[in-house]
Amino acid sequence: MKYDACYGKQDNMSTDKIALVTGYTGESGKALVKELINNNQFKKIILVGRRKIDYTDNKYIEKTEQREIDFDKIDDYAEAFRGADVHFCCLGTTRGKAGVEGFRRVDFDYVVSVARLAKQEDCKHFHLVSSQGANENSFFLYPQVKGQAEAALTKMSFERLSIYRPAVLMVDRVESRPLESVLRTILSYTVQRIAPEWITTPVDILARAMCFNSFIKDRVGVEILDNHAIFRLSEQQSSSKNDQSKATNEL
Ligand SMILES: NC(=O)c1ccc[n+]([C@@H]2O[C@H](COP(=O)([O-])OP(=O)(O)OC[C@H]3O[C@@H](n4cnc5c(N)ncnc54)[C@H](OP(=O)(O)O)[C@@H]3O)[C@@H](O)[C@H]2O)c1
Repeated sequence: MKYDACYGKQDNMSTDKIALVTGYTGESGKALVKELINNNQFKKIILVGRRKIDYTDNKYIEKTEQREIDFDKIDDYAEAFRGADVHFCCLGTTRGKAGVEGFRRVDFDYVVSVARLAKQEDCKHFHLVSSQGANENSFFLYPQVKGQAEAALTKMSFERLSIYRPAVLMVDRVESRPLESVLRTILSYTVQRIAPEWITTPVDILARAMCFNSFIKDRVGVEILDNHAIFRLSEQQSSSKNDQSKATNEL
């Protein structure tokens, strides 16, 4: 099912759910963890990655649990995926960084393995950060691999699978990616000002959308969220936050 925009109501502020994030050391993963922590709707946030982050902020220390794994031996680490109701997968690399095989290994093999273990460990709702243009029949490597990962996950029959297809992620990237950085600079002075939803997605908008979407009730099956839907969900997250702070102020 494809959602052009977002429909649906959120559950009340639920705090008994546990989230798990893979790819949490990356740019969209970091934005998501920040949103999940500040939003406070999850009781706990499990972070699974190939390395740990030395958090100094108490909110992160109290709310998160980091689990380090070797993705090449992922089947030895099934217990790292245990205990989560909702999984957010922000894993990914680039062909430039990892080569063709390395890109396939991370963006297909690791993503599919992570989803398989999440399902095995009874995760009910899996969120995948995929990409605009994902298409398993594409002639080009990037959209093809993204489309293949989406198709493989779709076959896994999660109770709920949310696939996000953001456009160019707008973020001050820590890692140096010169071409991407030039593209982002051009976009931020042109497209982002005129038609922000066309081919750009700020990572905080993606994070807000994913967080809000995990508490929308009465949705099942597979949903594909294009950039327009990501922006709509993010707006709903912002307005629900405003409503909550209004309600708190009125108490
Ligand atoms: N960049 C864009 O404009 C754009 C646009 C649309 C969609 N996307 C997609 O959005 C997703 C997230 O993108 P992003 O820019 O946030 O990614 P990112 O900053 O590059 O972070 C990627 C994450 O994956 C992990 N990872 C990469 N290679 C790994 C490996 N070999 N073994 C284990 N973990 C590995 C990284 O861990 P480390 O920190 O340890 O490296 C990091 O946590 C990706 O799937 C990407 O394709 C990106």
